[in-house]
Amino acid sequence: MTRDDADWWRQAVVYQVYPRSFADANADGIGDLRGIRSRVPYLRRLGVDAVWLSPFYPSALADGGYDVDDYRDVDPRLGTLDDFDDLVAELHASGIRIIVDIVPNHTSNRHAWFVEALASPRGSAARNRYIFRDGLGEGRTLPPADWTSAFGGPAWEPVGDGQWYLHYFATEQPDLNWDNREVRDDFLTTLRFWSDRGVDGFRIDVAHGLAKRLDDELPDQAALDALPRDGGHPLWDRDEVHEIYAAWRAVFDSYSPPRTAVAEAWVDTPRRPRYASREGLGQAFNFDLLEAPFDAGAFRRIVDANLALASESGSSTTWVLSNHDVVRHATRYGLPEPVDPREKHGAAWLLSGGVHPVLDADGGLRRARAATLFMLGLPGSAYLYQGEELGLHEVADIPPIERQDPAYFRNPGVDVGRDGCRVPIPWRSDGTSFGFGSDGSHLPQPAWFAELSVEAQQDAPDSTLALYRRALELRRDLQGSERLAWSPTEHDDVVRFRRDGGWEVVINFGAASVPLPAGEVLVASGPLPDGLLPAETAAWLRVTSAP
Ligand code: BGC
Repeated sequence: MTRDDADWWRQAVVYQVYPRSFADANADGIGDLRGIRSRVPYLRRLGVDAVWLSPFYPSALADGGYDVDDYRDVDPRLGTLDDFDDLVAELHASGIRIIVDIVPNHTSNRHAWFVEALASPRGSAARNRYIFRDGLGEGRTLPPADWTSAFGGPAWEPVGDGQWYLHYFATEQPDLNWDNREVRDDFLTTLRFWSDRGVDGFRIDVAHGLAKRLDDELPDQAALDALPRDGGHPLWDRDEVHEIYAAWRAVFDSYSPPRTAVAEAWVDTPRRPRYASREGLGQAFNFDLLEAPFDAGAFRRIVDANLALASESGSSTTWVLSNHDVVRHATRYGLPEPVDPREKHGAAWLLSGGVHPVLDADGGLRRARAATLFMLGLPGSAYLYQGEELGLHEVADIPPIERQDPAYFRNPGVDVGRDGCRVPIPWRSDGTSFGFGSDGSHLPQPAWFAELSVEAQQDAPDSTLALYRRALELRRDLQGSERLAWSPTEHDDVVRFRRDGGWEVVINFGAASVPLPAGEVLVASGPLPDGLLPAETAAWLRVTSAP
């Protein structure tokens, strides 16, 4: 793949870095850009094609950086624009592309626009960049509607003069008004700003939420929930959102190679292709595997459905098992009750801080390794989340006082929040913060990180890190067209498919060993004794015969 290959993203492996928790070069307990740069050789050795950086912009961290004060700068705790340029240069020199996160649904409440809006009267141009409404009742002391924010608690906040603003996420994240021309133009400037600095693509946060239509009379929460999300919902997945992305596409295509984008759009599956189309953002996250149980039928149906969607949009499909918003997949697969990966409701183990001995840690990791190997064998692009290559589990026992996620604070006793997958990752088996930095870590790391560190795994042939490295190396060599052909199996729990060039992926979701199909084993997620494919194990095989 050459650097000007316009299709580089179609089957890329993209590694998500959560900058504050990756590597800390300046000893303040918070990861930074120079830290990431120091780990480029690690990323290269891992074999990823691109890095996606979660927000690194100036922010009060009310929502882990997704509350952006300034879209065209670097948080001073994380470095400078020069550090950013150095990181881009270093990644590119290693053949790794870079994707940055754009957060267009809301700014932070410290953004210059919002500060100006608060200092300006109702009806002013400054307030028109956001979604302000008069309160209800005498003195306008009641919210314009009873809406609940995504993190719990009210979605409308009063500003003291009878007006209220909408914040679908935390109070510190006022929603922008995308009917405002200045808002639209400013984001085009931001896209050019980072594209000019050499950024290869963008991940678009809450891509389905920008276009809103709030009538004078607002529905209450129950009525809002009952409305279909068919393009006409007041808040979500409105058809007009695609006009915004058509303008973004013109910016992307003004670069050579065109800049890419991937939509974070939690929309009904049949509506996803429009975000992924060539006229739109070009690619959209598919979270179906991430939301699925470890089950043969579910995995197979999801693959079929998403390959069909990809051919509808002309894009390639995307696969994700973990990210910074969900319980790590090694843990999800190790809990007896299904964990809703987004809401975390019902995960008694998480809410208990990990004191209930219900986590089957080994089984969860075994299933995670198998699912990952299956996913990496699929056509399309794969998004990995930092630390999954070490087989990390969710950190459950973070004391309340150390927690940071607004989802935790706004939902006491209900949602434990997302801090457990955002704990700085272990590079070494000992020392301050397991090699993350030299002065501690902004979230506490558990003792069990020692045995899962990069240092502990890098020379161990059976380690999870070795499995990822081997699979990514093979994937680069074997990658062919974006098609697959299902192979017949004699067991309902076994799923098997073939890729161009004569290699096959097989996974056994069941509890008993099955015969291993014929072929040369290229990589396996666990031991393969006696020519068998054990329970909850996957393998890639080189095959010569017809399926
Ligand atoms: C991001 C979250 C963030 C939210 C609000 C998302 O979907 O992935 O981490 O809290 O948007 O910006």
